[in-house]
Amino acid sequence: MAQQFVIQSSAALQGQAHVYGAKNAALVSIASLILTQGKSRLHNVPFSDDIVCMMNLLVSLGASASYNAQEMILEVDTTALADWHVSPEIMRKMRASILVMGPLLVRFGKAVVAQPGGCDLGPRPIDYHLKNFLKMGVAITQDTHFIDAHVTRFTSARIVLEYPSVGATENLMMAAAGAYGVTTSIVNAALEPEVLNLIAILQKMGASITIHAPATIIIEGVAQLRPIEHTIIPDRLEAGSLLIAAAITGGTLHLPQAHAHEMDVFLLKLQEMGHTITVGSQGVGVSIQATKDPQAVSFKTGPYPSFPTDLQAPMMVAQCVANGTSIIEETVFENRLLHVRDLQKMGAAIRVEGTKAIIQGVPKLYGASVTATDIRASCALVLAGLIAQGATIVSGISHWRRGYYNLEEKLTRLGARIMVRETPQEMMLDSIEKQQGIVKLSC
Ligand code: EPZ
Repeated sequence: MAQQFVIQSSAALQGQAHVYGAKNAALVSIASLILTQGKSRLHNVPFSDDIVCMMNLLVSLGASASYNAQEMILEVDTTALADWHVSPEIMRKMRASILVMGPLLVRFGKAVVAQPGGCDLGPRPIDYHLKNFLKMGVAITQDTHFIDAHVTRFTSARIVLEYPSVGATENLMMAAAGAYGVTTSIVNAALEPEVLNLIAILQKMGASITIHAPATIIIEGVAQLRPIEHTIIPDRLEAGSLLIAAAITGGTLHLPQAHAHEMDVFLLKLQEMGHTITVGSQGVGVSIQATKDPQAVSFKTGPYPSFPTDLQAPMMVAQCVANGTSIIEETVFENRLLHVRDLQKMGAAIRVEGTKAIIQGVPKLYGASVTATDIRASCALVLAGLIAQGATIVSGISHWRRGYYNLEEKLTRLGARIMVRETPQEMMLDSIEKQQGIVKLSC
């Protein structure tokens, strides 16, 4: 049954919140376990729907998995993992499903996958993955349903990514780690914290990986990669969303687990707005004391350490009610401004020109019935509801559930007024008709 959030205008959020493990680090960490034979244990794993999907993907190949919700520990035993075919239905549930391709090629020399799903942010091709697997000696044939890859012997390669793609860097690096006897260089690699978390895991497994300036990763393939125990890094995107919630409600918040040095540009922008940010020793722990007179700031998203594209939508909400004009440019994805339409419905003064949004701050937003289009847009609409006059009904929270684990409970404990309800039947039928009867499958 679909659910909705009903959000009332909330007082200033106050208190402390626990930042869970990073979804985008946990997803690729789980995929990497295919490289090993045996039982691994991952700590600080958020139990969001995409994580459940990735667990189910490995189980569909023969692995066994158990999750301790109390301890947030995921145990995966890959001993019996014996299949290299991933069903198109599972592949279509999320973007991260493509990340099992490299590990399957190492384990079996074969991988039968399909085009991955994921948030609708633009075309999101996988050409950087496929054409560089070819460079590594992989043979790939495709039809409308399947991508069929096999390799008898990996070859050394100097891979140059035309764009520092997170997923392509991760996929190619996992294949290279197990490509015994060959050396792979990935030039113009992505070096997001989630990629560095994966490098730490692969090194624990026994991989030989070094990073060289300006952004080159060199991997010497090894014969065997062993099961590991690892703690997933805290989620900079959840932390950023919580800080924005405190900022826009004029509150105070302390996040003991947040890694400030993974959020530098984002924190700089909050400070430029006039909010007081305090960082703990060694950069662990972030606090905010919100200003009552926020100034609009402009920013451009980009590869790490630029402003993260996954905080663009939530940060846009803060600009909607700041003093002055903000120009936000989205450079990572072609179509990541879909949340503008719903923010305009709530009274925001936003003009879109190509991949730029020009926001004129307004005194307040107004509650409305809105629908989330992707994970981070769902967060933006929830945040907007916290400061809107009147109730805001957010539909499409399946996206929220894909990307966040109990975040609405954390916000409620801080003073947010968020209620969950089943989507009324008539709205369900209405939305199905709008989509011409096509109900998009997403986990
Ligand atoms: C990862 O997606 C994240 N997802 C995204 O988070 C994040 O926004 C993105 O990296 C950028 O940081 C996961 O880690 C599961 P990319 P990914 O490859 O790997 C183009 C969220 O909300 N491209 O760095 O798919 C692509 O279309 C999600 O948690 C190609 O053209 O991102 C995009 O324009 C959303 N060909 C750009 O590169 C390719 O083969 C960056 O994509 C691959 C990518």
